[in-house]
Amino acid sequence: MKGIVLAGGSGTRLFPLTSAMSKQLLPVYNKPMVYYPLSVLMLAGIRDILLISAPDAVPVMRSLLGDGSRLGLNLSYAVQEEPRGIAEALLIGADHIDGDASALVLGDNVFHGTGFPELLRRSRDRLDGCVLFGSPVPDPERYGIAEVDSTGRVVSLEEKPRQPRSHTAITGLYLYDHEAVDIARGITPSPRGELEITDVNLEYLRRGRVTLTELGRGSAWFDCGTHDSLLAAGQYVQYVEQYEGESVACLEEVALRMGFIDVDACHRLGAGMRQSTYGRHLTRIARTPD
Ligand code: DAU
Repeated sequence: MKGIVLAGGSGTRLFPLTSAMSKQLLPVYNKPMVYYPLSVLMLAGIRDILLISAPDAVPVMRSLLGDGSRLGLNLSYAVQEEPRGIAEALLIGADHIDGDASALVLGDNVFHGTGFPELLRRSRDRLDGCVLFGSPVPDPERYGIAEVDSTGRVVSLEEKPRQPRSHTAITGLYLYDHEAVDIARGITPSPRGELEITDVNLEYLRRGRVTLTELGRGSAWFDCGTHDSLLAAGQYVQYVEQYEGESVACLEEVALRMGFIDVDACHRLGAGMRQSTYGRHLTRIARTPD
């Protein structure tokens, strides 16, 4: 399975924070936002990852993450010239996907939860068509929304509905089989001129091949698209790291736990950042990995 992080867009809802800076490089507590979605793909066991961003952001992302080899990844980069819709990621990433299954994650989404890594791997292993991840929200007009019948089957999907049929938001993580690129090629832009990811998902729904997995209790999900949600995500990560003693989206630690790098590499990476608590955390876990 190939991974894509879509980290473009203009971030206008976060102005002036994003007037000179890519949204996905803003801090969520102690790390750049893009670490969080990247860690999700790594937790799913994906090592071949394409990062798509705006023209001026790609060089900065590249200097932050490089070719991924220090994390045991194969990272490549592509430019999205204009924010022409989330589904355009599948077109830009067509060569990278190369007929394989794919996992697309939005660069401003933060996922965390005790059972989340296991849920991800199970969903990946049982992928048939497309897997969407649902989470309850109080303000469904802001999201893609799924309606589910009493048997758990998805019966409708709507992008930012005026009259939502449920409070189940479709989060920004999508697992697709090999047909996603062809489906994305067949959709037409919405009235706002974007290739909507919900239209790709609707085509899977028409084919009867959508599974909705609820993130469930004990899981947290944030879309850092507004000042308030950005702050809430940062406060959540601070709480978990300081009071529960667990790190969130610490890429080197995820790489170690996934077996992408060994303890020596983890220690070396931590030692290079020993002035920060992040770096010291890495040297500590490298000494006592369990
Ligand atoms: O976060 C989950 C929601 O994300 C879903 O429930 C919606 O169905 C989905 O459409 C999307 O809604 P948003 O209103 O959050 O989409 P937004 O335009 O803010 O884009 C989400 C992220 O994707 C953001 O970090 C910017 C990036 N993006 C977006 C577009 C449209 C791109 O990189 N390129 C784009 O062309």
